[in-house]
Amino acid sequence: MAEWVKAATTEECSGEGCVHAATPEGEAVVVVKVDGEYFALEDRCSHQDFPLSDGSIENGQIECVFHGARFDVRTGKAKSLPAIKPVKTYPVEVRGDEIWVQVGG
Ligand code: FES
Repeated sequence: MAEWVKAATTEECSGEGCVHAATPEGEAVVVVKVDGEYFALEDRCSHQDFPLSDGSIENGQIECVFHGARFDVRTGKAKSLPAIKPVKTYPVEVRGDEIWVQVGG
């Protein structure tokens, strides 16, 4: 069942390209900030399951630090090899200084 959970605060994720991992309800989520907007993705690379929260953000894409796969933060689509499958994305809402993510959908 889908539910909203608090994943981070805007203070924790204040820098452009900030990456913050949270594990609400057992789902690993990475929250990123791009162009002043927050996005949430599954914190598990579709290549070999390493956490994307160890990676970096560039041009609206999150890059996996392990083998360099990149994913569009808005859609979760794989943009470069070795990943070919997308990662899940989650709806995000900013409530005051808290970043909420809808998981379990
Ligand atoms: S685990 Fe991410 S590119 Fe290999």
